[in-house]
Amino acid sequence: MKILVTGGAGFLGQQLIRALLERGKLRLDDEEVSIERIVCFDRSVGVLQDPRVENVAGDIADSSVVQRLVDRDTAAIVHLAAVVSGTAEADFDLGMQVNLDGTRLLLETCRAVGHRPRLLFSSSIAVFGGDLPEIVDDSTTPTPQGSYGTQKLIGELLVQDFSRKGYVDGRSVRVPTVVVRPGLPNGAASGFASGIIREPLAGVEAILPVDPSTEMWVASPRAVVGMFLHALELPAADWGWNRSVNLPGLVVSMEQELEALRKVGGEAAVALVRHEPDEDVLRLVRTWAGRFDTARARAMGFRADPDFESIVRAYVADNSEAVRIAARAG
Ligand SMILES: NC(=O)c1ccc[n+]([C@@H]2O[C@H](COP(=O)([O-])OP(=O)(O)OC[C@H]3O[C@@H](n4cnc5c(N)ncnc54)[C@H](O)[C@@H]3O)[C@@H](O)[C@H]2O)c1
Repeated sequence: MKILVTGGAGFLGQQLIRALLERGKLRLDDEEVSIERIVCFDRSVGVLQDPRVENVAGDIADSSVVQRLVDRDTAAIVHLAAVVSGTAEADFDLGMQVNLDGTRLLLETCRAVGHRPRLLFSSSIAVFGGDLPEIVDDSTTPTPQGSYGTQKLIGELLVQDFSRKGYVDGRSVRVPTVVVRPGLPNGAASGFASGIIREPLAGVEAILPVDPSTEMWVASPRAVVGMFLHALELPAADWGWNRSVNLPGLVVSMEQELEALRKVGGEAAVALVRHEPDEDVLRLVRTWAGRFDTARARAMGFRADPDFESIVRAYVADNSEAVRIAARAG
């Protein structure tokens, strides 16, 4: 079986490809199928080297490129290519081109090939915003308050309709904010939730631009990759007519994040976090959903992290080269 991962050279893409390689198979329609090839498609070239991985560089919004990506052997597609929230807000045209036109182009390509591949679309909790109930649940109407969330929601609707028409077997997962993101900060407006853990553990100062009581809905990279695999493997019947789901996560305040940082990295790590309110970030954050009831996802077998401290400990275990402050035993 061949799997296409768009945005495969990105943060979650590389972790997902690593997990697929480790597993070596996927369970599709009650059958264990060996993964023979993974096409890692991205604007930039992925660093993972494995005989089963083919790195292809190109633009998801370029039809001549995308048409060459999908053929009848492409049994599964994970569509991660996107520009993230801050970037889509700052550059409207780029967001529309990559997040919306790119998604439609990929779906149209599948339709033209005509083999109804399984397709997983990584949507976001940014489809929710504005005047929300205290707890967002499966019946809350998505009302995005930014271009990124709007593009993700339209992508979900396209996945839904292309599935209804039988062009793909699609599923969209609304991913919580993924924390702790390793490496350099990206264009995501929520980046501080990772930054206040990652930078201090590296011995570097970090800015907290929001009130410490600010709550966010988060999940670890490990949990999200596990949920991606689960979403891919779930039979179509388990999705039914609704091809979108809010993924489970944890509610965490920035205060609780700092408490977990204290437990893992000690007072020296917490002392590196400076509270410096930023009105632009605050305005955006106020419109985000912080608490969810994800009953449908849990009934479908999706599982979140146990607690925030275990997320920080998993980050330390997976990124020892980026951690300068000695972690305390848990
Ligand atoms: N990380 C999070 O907190 C989070 C939360 C919700 C949803 N998501 C979604 O999950 C997916 C993966 O996120 P990530 O955190 O790995 O982001 P990322 O930025 O690390 O990965 C996205 C990848 O898409 C690629 N890309 C951008 N424009 C492209 C184009 N025109 N053509 C081809 N590739 C292009 C980028 O080069 C990048 O490698 C995205 O769709 C994102 O919207 C992420």
